[in-house]
Amino acid sequence: MMLDINKIREDFTFLRSGRIYLDSTATSLTPEPVLKKVLEYYREYRANVGRGIYNTAQTATSAYENARAEVAKLINAKPEEIIFVRNTTEATNLVANGLKFQEGEKIVTTILEHHSNYIVWLRVKNTKKLELSVVQSDREGHLSPSDFAAHIDRRTKLVAVTHTSNVLGVRPPIKEIVKLAHEQGSLVLVDGAQSVPHTKVDVKELGCDFLAFSGHKMCGPTGVGALYIKEDLQASVEPLCIGGGSIDDVGIDYYRLRGGPNKYEAGTPPIAEAIGMGAAATYLMNIGMDNIEDHERKLTRRMLQGLANIEGISLYGPKDAEKRAGIISFNLKGMNPHDVAVALDTTSGVMVRSGHHCALPLHKHVLNAPNGSVRASVYLYNNYDDVDVFLDTLAEISKTLM
Ligand code: ALA
Repeated sequence: MMLDINKIREDFTFLRSGRIYLDSTATSLTPEPVLKKVLEYYREYRANVGRGIYNTAQTATSAYENARAEVAKLINAKPEEIIFVRNTTEATNLVANGLKFQEGEKIVTTILEHHSNYIVWLRVKNTKKLELSVVQSDREGHLSPSDFAAHIDRRTKLVAVTHTSNVLGVRPPIKEIVKLAHEQGSLVLVDGAQSVPHTKVDVKELGCDFLAFSGHKMCGPTGVGALYIKEDLQASVEPLCIGGGSIDDVGIDYYRLRGGPNKYEAGTPPIAEAIGMGAAATYLMNIGMDNIEDHERKLTRRMLQGLANIEGISLYGPKDAEKRAGIISFNLKGMNPHDVAVALDTTSGVMVRSGHHCALPLHKHVLNAPNGSVRASVYLYNNYDDVDVFLDTLAEISKTLM
C-alpha cells in the first residue's frame, strides 16, 4: 500500500517550518496523536500508577498498562514480557548487570555495535572476568551465520547483536544467529533500536531472549524505552534498581521482589512517556510496519542513486537499497564530516548527523574513517523532495571542492 505521505506529514508539526529532517536514526519526530495522549494524561488523569485505589489512579494505571500491551503487540510479545526502561542503553545495562555470569564465561558481540551494546560488555568482561569475542564484518558490514558459528561455543552465556546497524543500515541474520546460540545453550540479546521503529519485528519469529529499543526513535517521547525479556527468563535476571513498587513483601531484615515487569520498574516510572510510547506503537501499527518499510526503501533507493552521481562521495555499506535500511553514511572527499553537516544545514536547512555515531570500533577498524562520517536517515514522514534537496545541496557542496 502507498502511504499518504502528505497526510502523515500533517501530523508532524515540526515539519511545518519547511525544515528537512534526515536524522531520525538519532531521534524521531513526534506526531500530534502521540503528543495528545501525553497531554491528556497531564491534563485529565494525572495520578501515580500501581499505587492509589481512587478512580483517577486506576485510570492512570490502566492507561500505563494499556501502553505496555500496545508496545507488546508491536513486537508480538506478551505484555508481561515488556519492561519500561529509559532507553535502549538502560536496557542493555539491565541485562549486563542482571544476568548471573560465572568467571570464564563468554559474551559474543560484533564490530557493528553501537557503544550501548559494546562498552557494557567490555565492563562486565572486566568486572566478572569473562571473555569477550567480537565477530568481524566485511567492509560493507555484512555478517554471515558462519562468522558467528566460529565464535559461539558451550562457554557462551550471551550473544549481543544489533538488528540494524545505526551506521550502515545492514541487518545481521538474527534468526540464524539465535538458532546457533540456542544450540550451544547461549542467550541472545538483540539491539532493536533501529529496527523496531522501521520494520515488522516479531520476537516469536526471531526467537531472541531479549530485545531492547527506545520510544524516542519510534515517534514516542524521550525518556522511555522497552526491554523485552522472555517470560521464563525473568526469574533469573536481577533488576537494575529496586525500591518502591517492585516488592511483594518487606520485613526488618528481608525483602521479596514481585514477579513480572513490576520487579524491574522500581520508583515512579516515566508514566506520561510510557503512555506516549504506547500511543506511538499504535500510531505505527495503524500505518502498518510493512508500509513504512516499503516507503523508506523507495527513499533509500533514490538517495543511493543520487549519491552515486556526486563526485567525491565515499559511501559506506551496501550500494543496493534492498540490502539495507534507510540509514546512509558517507564521506565527502576533502571535507570533515562535521563541516558537511554544517554546510547542509546552513545552505538548505537539511539536518543530518555527523561524527562516529557512537560506533567508534566500526569507524576505526572496518570503515577506516577515524574522523567519522556524515549520516542521513529517513523515516515515514520524509518524502522525495527531502531527498532531492539533500542531494542537490550535497552536489553543490561537492562542486566547491573540485
Ligand atoms: N543511537 C543514536 C544514533 O545513532 C543516538 O544517532
